[in-house]
Amino acid sequence: MAAEPVTEFAPAKINLALHVTGRRADGYHLLDSLVVFVGTGDRVTAAPSEDLTLTLTGPRSTSLAADDDNLVLRAARAMGSGGAALVLEKHLPVASGIGGGSAGAAAPPRALSRLRGQPLPPAAAVLALGADVPVCLAGQPARMSGIGETLAPLDHPLPEAWLVLANPGVAVSTPAIFAALARRDNAPLPRDLPRLRTAADLSAFLRMARNDLEAPAAQLVPVISVARSALSAQPGCLMSRMSGSGATCFGLFPDALTAAAAARALRSARPDWWIEAAPILP
Ligand code: C5P
Repeated sequence: MAAEPVTEFAPAKINLALHVTGRRADGYHLLDSLVVFVGTGDRVTAAPSEDLTLTLTGPRSTSLAADDDNLVLRAARAMGSGGAALVLEKHLPVASGIGGGSAGAAAPPRALSRLRGQPLPPAAAVLALGADVPVCLAGQPARMSGIGETLAPLDHPLPEAWLVLANPGVAVSTPAIFAALARRDNAPLPRDLPRLRTAADLSAFLRMARNDLEAPAAQLVPVISVARSALSAQPGCLMSRMSGSGATCFGLFPDALTAAAAARALRSARPDWWIEAAPILP
């Protein structure tokens, strides 16, 4: 067991595409999604301790309670009954389509596995914490299917590209968005994802894909369309889309400079929104 505390980064999860292809008998939806992680997120530190405790810090810590329902504590309990002093440094908005909850839930198993020399739990063991937790635990760009438990690495690495994330500050109820879907039998993504060499290639590919949750989400939360339009209007924005069940939208940019300029412009126009520019992590 490591004597020193270990820290794990919990990057934001972005669904570059999210197709809803069916529904299981238990009501959960079958998805086909291209998932990536970006260089902005939460941090979880785990230090040796007799008891399991959680301290919340960071700019978004007031959006959560360190109670028994806290996903970070539930995820830590999935690693067995041992103690640890956990600190969650919260930056990501919760209920916002970018893994604000799931990314944080994936970090304790990683941190505790390093701290205690324990293997990582299998995807099936963390699926009950949330459909996005397995992909966040893997932490690599992936094609995600099933309800979130089936993960395939991408055939080809993605090109270098930046995202600007814009969250207009409205929490979205994921079940309500799924319930409002007009269709649940949409076409999946192409079977084989092509090799995409540039951000422009990635944009052209993504323009042929969709987020099937975006139409019902924008109907229930109209400011989502405002966020998308604001991203699309930025110079250099190649395409934009909502992530997950919203409300966070992303714009795709070819480089750090154009992404940073777009983030600056959006922040001054919308000081009340959460806006971040970050690279897609390889
Ligand atoms: O698993 P998670 O807590 O993220 O899901 C929240 C809700 O979203 C579920 O209770 C379910 O209503 C819906 N959902 C779904 N199909 C998925 C993932 C989530 O219907 N694949």
